[in-house]
Amino acid sequence: MFSIFTKSKFGFLEKLEFLQTFASFIISRVSPAVVHNLEKYQAIKKVFYLSAIEDIEGDYLEFGMYTGSSFCHAIRCSKNLSNINQEIKKMKFYGFDSFEGFGNVDDSEKHPFYEDQNFSTDILKVKRRVSKVSKPENFSIIPGFFEDSLKQSPESYGITKSRIIFIDSDTYSSAQEALQFSLSTIQSGTFIILDDFYSYKGDQALGIAGAFNKFIEENHLSARRVLDYGMGGIVFIIKRQK
Ligand SMILES: C[S@@+](CC[C@H](N)C(=O)[O-])C[C@H]1O[C@@H](n2cnc3c(N)ncnc32)[C@H](O)[C@@H]1O
Repeated sequence: MFSIFTKSKFGFLEKLEFLQTFASFIISRVSPAVVHNLEKYQAIKKVFYLSAIEDIEGDYLEFGMYTGSSFCHAIRCSKNLSNINQEIKKMKFYGFDSFEGFGNVDDSEKHPFYEDQNFSTDILKVKRRVSKVSKPENFSIIPGFFEDSLKQSPESYGITKSRIIFIDSDTYSSAQEALQFSLSTIQSGTFIILDDFYSYKGDQALGIAGAFNKFIEENHLSARRVLDYGMGGIVFIIKRQK
């Protein structure tokens, strides 16, 4: 018969109930956006480190900059790795964004959270912010909707190889345009960071995941998952077949 004097199987752990409740209280209250961004920063740091120890050449391309916070973080991460790999100093940073949100998107791409009013920002403020962490010659911000700004070749912007590509523009069409633009720059060892990979109810044919899966298949690339972060972010490393 159970008695209050019976020694619990979990012993000391049971006494930690207070601590468990306290941890739950704190964790449930932290904003999901804060959790996501902190883990995204960690993921970017890990990817820069991995690319440095593997001696991957090339530049950082970010599609979807918004206020420039992840872009500035990427620059900071690279600066702190030059003691591991001097070559990282040669890296340039390219950011692409309309600075007006998503523009006209097809009905199939509509999503309750990806709305223009959530993502319109001032490019001058973004430029000022980035200038505080980087010399002007080391970064380039290219404004415009991808369907216009990515019509040109990467070479026309001075990009030949990509070391890290970050796609954070949320929709299928924008991710497809970003990936197609980047194709010639991708080498074995290029890292591709994809935010919002599980959006659109996890449908593998929609959103960023849909564009990425199709891109990998059509171009005969192989993609190995490196890590997951935040509220649905993922990182892959690419191997080119030829
Ligand atoms: C989630 S925000 C980027 C957040 C940013 N990477 C960060 O972590 O600080 C998405 C951005 O993608 C941009 N975007 C979405 N679709 C686009 C398109 N077709 N062309 C250009 N920019 C686009 C939006 O303007 C928005 O600023």
